[in-house]
Amino acid sequence: MCGIVGYVGRRPAAPILLDGLSKLEYRGYDSAGLAVWADGGINVQKTKGRLSNLYNATDGGKTPYGFMGIGHTRWATHGEPSDINSHPHTSQDGNFAVVHNGIIENYLPLRRKLEAKGFSFRSETDTEVISHLFEYYYSGNLIEATVKVMHRLEGSYALGVLCEDFPDRFVAVRKSSPLICADGEDESFIASDVTAILPYTRSVYYLNDGEIALVGTDGISFYNTDCEEIKKEHTFIEWDISAAEKGGYEHFMMKEIEEQPKAVADTVSPRIKDGKITLDGFNLTARELEKVGKIHIAACGSAYHAGIVGKYVIEQLCRISVEVDVASEFRYRNPIINEGDLVIVISQSGETADTLAALREAKARGAKTLAIVNVVGSTIALEADSILYTHAGPEIAVATTKAYSTQLALLYLLAADMAEKLGRISGERYSELVDEIEKLPEKIGEILKNKEYVQYLASKFYSSESIFFIGRNTDYAVSLEGSLKLKEISYIHSEAYAAGELKHGTISLIENGTPTVAVMTGKRLFAKTASNAEEVKSRGGIIVAVICESERSEASFCDHIIRIPDTDEVLAPSLAVIPLQLFSYYTASLKGLDIDKPRNLAKSVTVE
Ligand code: F6R
Repeated sequence: MCGIVGYVGRRPAAPILLDGLSKLEYRGYDSAGLAVWADGGINVQKTKGRLSNLYNATDGGKTPYGFMGIGHTRWATHGEPSDINSHPHTSQDGNFAVVHNGIIENYLPLRRKLEAKGFSFRSETDTEVISHLFEYYYSGNLIEATVKVMHRLEGSYALGVLCEDFPDRFVAVRKSSPLICADGEDESFIASDVTAILPYTRSVYYLNDGEIALVGTDGISFYNTDCEEIKKEHTFIEWDISAAEKGGYEHFMMKEIEEQPKAVADTVSPRIKDGKITLDGFNLTARELEKVGKIHIAACGSAYHAGIVGKYVIEQLCRISVEVDVASEFRYRNPIINEGDLVIVISQSGETADTLAALREAKARGAKTLAIVNVVGSTIALEADSILYTHAGPEIAVATTKAYSTQLALLYLLAADMAEKLGRISGERYSELVDEIEKLPEKIGEILKNKEYVQYLASKFYSSESIFFIGRNTDYAVSLEGSLKLKEISYIHSEAYAAGELKHGTISLIENGTPTVAVMTGKRLFAKTASNAEEVKSRGGIIVAVICESERSEASFCDHIIRIPDTDEVLAPSLAVIPLQLFSYYTASLKGLDIDKPRNLAKSVTVE
C-alpha cells in the first residue's frame, strides 16, 4: 500500500526521494508524487501511474532543486488514481504539504466542517482534510499544530508534513500505519520501511503510535502528544543493502524462493542449542502452558495458511485445541476467549490492518498474545505481549515465499517446544523432531536444485483455465498456499480442497484435461488422498502428485509426479510448498506477467 519517503540534509532531495520510492514500489501503488522545499517555498510534482512518470516530470529528480522533501506512492482508497488525487496534498494557503498512508475514517464530517469554514477541496481524498487542518491549527508552532490535528483524526495514518516556514525540518507522525525515522551525518530520513533508506544509513528509530518526530538536518527530536520532548533509542539495522536488491535475478520472487534455505536456517539455528529449543521472547514454563486452554491463531492470506499448518502440528504434538481464523473475521465475530487462552497472530509485514485489529481485540479480551512477525519494530511486533521474529530478511515480491517458510519453521519450533514442556511427546520424539527441523534448509536446497521438472510441468499447464489442489491435513493446508500462490501471480482460477471434500460439490468443475495437484506427503493418509485423486482422474482430470522420495505405494493413476525429500510427516509442508511456489512462478513467467507486482495487489495491506 502507500509508501512514504522524506529527506532533509545537504544533498539534493528529489533524487533521494525517487530512489526511496523505487524501493517501496513493491508495496503496490498507482500514482506517485513529491514535494520539495525549493526557491523559498514548497514545490509539488505528482503524476498518475508508474514512478517513471514522476521521474520524467522531475527531469530525473533535477527539479525541484532543494534539500528537503517528502515523496509518496499512492494506492488509491478514496478517489480514483489521478494526478489530482495523488499525494502530496497542500493546504489552501500553500504553507503545508502532506503525504499520508492509512485511512482517515472521519474525513467526511471533517471535510464538511472545513468547507463550512471556507476551505475548498481539490481532490476526492481523505488526506486533503489533513493539509487543511494543519493550516487551520497552525500559529507558528509546528508540534502544537500536529498534536491538534492528531486529536481530530480518527483512523490510521503515517504522515510526512512540510511547512514552508521551516526550510530545514519537517514533521512525521504515525498511528497504526508504518513509519520509521533514520539519521545519518547531517541528514535525516523517514520511510514506510527500511528498504528505502538502507543505501544511506542503518541507524533507525521506530516511532510508536502517537509519537511525533521533528526531522532535521541536525538530527531528529521526538515529542509526545503533550508536546514534551521524549528520548528514543536508535536501532542498528543488520540487513545488507543487497538483501533488498535483485542481485542478478529477473524477479525478486525467484531470488526469495532461492533464499529459503538460508532464511529457514537463520530462523531455526539460533534457537536450537545442543539439541534443545530455546525461544527467547516466548518462554512459558510448563506450569504456565498447562493453563493454556485453547490457542487461537489469526492472520491473513499466506500467513493464515501458515496458521492452518500450525493448527495441525500443535494439535498433533501438544494436544491443545487450536482455532484458526482469518483475521478480518476474528475481529468481528465476537470470539470466545477464556482466561488463559493464547492468541497467536502471524504477519510478515507486522502492519496488516486486520491482523493488528485481531491482536488488539485479543488483548482487550484478556488473552495472552504472541506475534510471529518478520519486520522488526513493526506495529504488531511492538504491541504483542511476546514476539518471535522470523529471520527471512526483507521480502520484496508481493507473493510471499520465504516469509511463509520461516513462519512454518517457527511454528514447528513452538509446537515441539510446547509439546516437550507439557510432556506430551517423548524425549526421543522431541529429538527426532528437532533433528528433522534442523535438516529442513538442506532439503529445501535439494528441491531447488531440481527446478527444471517443475518448469516443464508449468509449460504443460500454463494455459489452463483452472487448476485444483487437493490434500488432507497438513497436505491440505499446503494446498491452500499452493493455490493462492498460483492465482495471485498467474491469474489462473484455482481452488484448494480438502481431498475428501471435493466430491461434495466441487468435483462438478472437473472436466477433461483439468489439472489437479494432489499433495500426498503423508504416509498415514496416502491411500485416502490417492482414492480422491482417482475420482478426479476418472472424470478426465490430469493428476500432478507431490509425493515423498521413499513413498512406494501404487501411484500409476498419477500423470506426473514431483518427488520431495522424506521428512517427518508434520514438517512436510516446508518441503511440499517449494515445488508449488516454483510452479506458480514459472506459470506466471510463461504468461509474461508482472510476477513481483501482480495486478490489484499490495504487499503491505494497511487498510481493512
Ligand atoms: C500472498 C501474500 C498475502 C499475505 C497477507 C498477509 O502471497 O503475501 O496473502 O500473506 O496479505 O500479509 P502479512 O503477512 O504481511 O500480514
